[in-house]
Amino acid sequence: MFNKKTVRDVDVTGKKVLVRVDFNVPLKEGAVADDTRIRAAIPTIEYLLQHGAAVVLMSHLGRPKGKRVPELSLRPVATHLSHLLGMPVVFAEDCIGEPAERTKAALKPGEVLLLENTRFHPEEKKNDPEFARQLASGCDLFVNDAFGSAHRAHASTVGVAQYLPAVAGFLMEKELRYLGQTLENPERPFVSILGGAKISDKIGVIRNLLTKADRILIGGGMANTFFAAQGYRMGKSLVEADAVETAKALLADAGDKLQLPVDLVIADAFAEDAQRRIVPVGDIPDGWMALDIGPKTVEAFAETIHGARTVVWNGPMGVFEMPPFAKGTFGVAKAVAESGAVSIVGGGDSVAAIKQSGLADKITHLSTGGGASLEMLEGKVLPGVAVLEDKES
Ligand code: 3PG
Repeated sequence: MFNKKTVRDVDVTGKKVLVRVDFNVPLKEGAVADDTRIRAAIPTIEYLLQHGAAVVLMSHLGRPKGKRVPELSLRPVATHLSHLLGMPVVFAEDCIGEPAERTKAALKPGEVLLLENTRFHPEEKKNDPEFARQLASGCDLFVNDAFGSAHRAHASTVGVAQYLPAVAGFLMEKELRYLGQTLENPERPFVSILGGAKISDKIGVIRNLLTKADRILIGGGMANTFFAAQGYRMGKSLVEADAVETAKALLADAGDKLQLPVDLVIADAFAEDAQRRIVPVGDIPDGWMALDIGPKTVEAFAETIHGARTVVWNGPMGVFEMPPFAKGTFGVAKAVAESGAVSIVGGGDSVAAIKQSGLADKITHLSTGGGASLEMLEGKVLPGVAVLEDKES
């Protein structure tokens, strides 16, 4: 159950509010290439402004390894946010020290400041207490709205809560309601769809979902390892040799809950212009590899999905970046969109596939979290959530 305090439960008027957002967005030629995560943070920012708070935003961007990397500056994000909000956004050249202190001190209620990338300092990822103290300095309240980073125990997601009262923002609340509550109390049948390259990334997710879902559909590269565990010859397909025993154990525990592909799109090379064929599972010639689920599988998966009341999807069904191997992922996207079920899609690739297929508005909830949504599906409590204050009962 979602039992954390949110911005609605505290008085923010006249306060300087430090908000952790996840502005880790793709940039192209110095501009924001996809602003989904920025837009998703706007309800919290606007609420705080309308209630007379001064808003200090902080985020990481990319993985600069504790050094100042000019290409990973958040300055273009400040410009973009300013357009979206229709007001100026002050930018501080550093998230701590003189530039941050000065701009924080000058900030008035109704104004917004964005601090430079927190990961320009190695102390961020170490959750260094002194660094966290400096981030929190001059502020009265911490709001965590960075669901996408809540699985990281860093200074800006966890450490600052040592120094400030900590509550959730609206995006955090929404993500936890959908991912948390749906898993705890799904409308049934509850069907989960898992894809992506590797089974090893998702063992915890499969184990947890086996206790919650009525059906788990498996596609993408990870299905290959299950087929190898069943003794099929997989040619040059990606198979995780180390995970074959785990796959055997999962198959044994799953009973008929796991639904695997029945046919595959195979190719003679990992290339868009490779020769390709559709074959039943088990008929992969030597030297060929599986790169997508086949049409019979799409049909079978769609039938299961259409019977569901709740669908959770994470991970593509094939190498959908290459159009000849995208039909499986787009076919599943269509089935999820048309199912009429409560549908939740997480993970960068599956969200991108839904958007590319123009079906995003048919999905109940598109998560802004990749790793964070996976950890939720594993049943873990995220550290950036654990530090938030509980609601008084
Ligand atoms: C994400 O994009 O998943 C989050 O912003 C976390 O980024 P990270 O994996 O670099 O910590």
